[in-house]
Amino acid sequence: MNSKELIKLAKKAQKMAYSPYSNFAVGSAVLFEDDKVFLGCNIESASYGATCCAERVAIYKGVSEGYKKIKMIAVVGSSDMTYPCGICRQVIAEFCDDCKIVIASEDDYKEYELNELLPFSFTKKDLEHV
Ligand code: THU
Repeated sequence: MNSKELIKLAKKAQKMAYSPYSNFAVGSAVLFEDDKVFLGCNIESASYGATCCAERVAIYKGVSEGYKKIKMIAVVGSSDMTYPCGICRQVIAEFCDDCKIVIASEDDYKEYELNELLPFSFTKKDLEHV
């Protein structure tokens, strides 16, 4: 599975977005260990705070099925390049050891390492000595 294939799946997931309040559709595809892929879209709620981003939907689907190591995550949103929000970056960090984060627009994409999107992060390593 390469970046372009994962982006294609993220675009497929974007079509499932439930975003009647923002009209901002996001799709994500996460490649875990064993080449297992989970898709997610953003799911909004009339109680806005209950909204869940596409990235977290996809990650939580995988984790709840026993997958805990993200190899690559692709994100496609309604803006030119939609970058993961702060909460999603933190959740990605939880399950990303050496993963690739792929941000796609209509006809282009960029690849990042977690450290570029979340430098000086607080992770499980910080809690090891406690
Ligand atoms: N959204 C995502 O799904 N992922 C992000 O990383 C940014 C924001 C969603 C949440 C909400 O449904 C809509 O985009 C507007 O904020």
